[in-house]
Amino acid sequence: TGLCTYDPGYTSTGSCNSTITYIDGKKGVLLYRGYDIEQLAEEGDFLDSAYLLLMGELPNAQQKTQFEKDITMHTLVHEQLIQFYKGFKHDAHPMAIMTGVVGALSAFEPYASDIADPASRMRSCLRMISRMPTLAAIAYRTSRGYPIIYPRNDLDYASRFLHMMFAWPTQKYDVDPVLARALEKILILHMDHEQNASTSTVRTAGSSQANPFACIASGIAALWGPAHGGANEAVLRMLEDIGSKSRIPDALARAKDKKDPFRLMGFGHRVYKTFDPRAKVMRKVCHEVLEHLQITDDPLLEIAMELEKEATLDPYFVQRGLYPNVDFYSGIVLRALGVPLDMFTVLFSLARTVGWVSQWREMAEEQQKTPKISRPRQMYNGHLLRPFVPLERRD
Ligand code: CMC
Repeated sequence: TGLCTYDPGYTSTGSCNSTITYIDGKKGVLLYRGYDIEQLAEEGDFLDSAYLLLMGELPNAQQKTQFEKDITMHTLVHEQLIQFYKGFKHDAHPMAIMTGVVGALSAFEPYASDIADPASRMRSCLRMISRMPTLAAIAYRTSRGYPIIYPRNDLDYASRFLHMMFAWPTQKYDVDPVLARALEKILILHMDHEQNASTSTVRTAGSSQANPFACIASGIAALWGPAHGGANEAVLRMLEDIGSKSRIPDALARAKDKKDPFRLMGFGHRVYKTFDPRAKVMRKVCHEVLEHLQITDDPLLEIAMELEKEATLDPYFVQRGLYPNVDFYSGIVLRALGVPLDMFTVLFSLARTVGWVSQWREMAEEQQKTPKISRPRQMYNGHLLRPFVPLERRD
């Protein structure tokens, strides 16, 4: 009953007003608060982009120092929360663990969960950004049975994460600054992307005035799928399956066959119908990292470059505006950094947390002024009223 517009997948529904991220899908433009993504990744650091997205402006020197203090203040997680990890089966996917432990933060953060209070809202945003690398690294370490490495607050955000992932308590471990900078760029590129599936999920959950930490957990769940954040993992699996350049034509034929569910992972985007501007930066990062590590003949990179070349000349892909997206090259970089495949999407969630909390905060401010729960309608295609059938008369 009642009129509504049918828009499956919300391809033409604007669900909110926002001042955070601007995308021009035809021209391949992505701006955070008006600043070009390529410039932010090449010339700025993690703190610049994170502050910008959350607060609205680039920080001055004093604000940047304070912001760094704020997000290093809460890098430790409650010791009891660490017990949660032990309850998971040894081979649990780290994304499954992350949905659980981030949701559980709701139970540990009473002073950061009062959504009616602006200071409390800011606290929850800062604490999420602060705690995510620790939670992610513990997910990895416990899944392998390795001892947990506590955060070193003298390191920058990306280096701190790499240290918690790869250091060993009995040995000295120095983070390679080139690899840390590559990770920092990956984080910046993935921070926000307006109303994608996971961000919309965070906003929808938040519109019911749910606990902010639980809202972020819902975003992590939405990100997990291969059509969204799981694509970086899926790209690497696909490149491994293709296995050699000679098998690329088969992969392209399968991707074009409408009877075959196979899609070219890391290709296509709901909004970009040209090159994803993040993919350009990522391709450069990929070459820089492999060169630094003196990996001169990575077979997966060779397959990826050839696949990109052949697909971008193929009329099927050109006509549909299907070009490499950010995740086409990110998997190769993450693998070179030593990040295991099942942690790729976790890393995406680490970066996207900045966008999720920024969008959640914008949504929560709006909700305080004009509360409006997200509540789409539907096209009902089921039965209309019919009489109840007693059990003895049912077929
Ligand atoms: N390989 C082959 N064909 C494709 C692909 C692909 N990767 N992507 C879209 N198409 C075709 C699709 O079959 C359809 O063809 P037709 O018009 O003949 O039916 C046409 O292109 C339009 O596709 P769509 O499914 O309507 O497009 P969408 O906007 O709903 O989907 C997408 C966007 C990203 C889910 C999709 O392109 C896809 O599945 N790509 C592979 C997964 C991937 O790389 N995802 C990461 C996206 S970027 C990171 C992120 O946002 O998390």
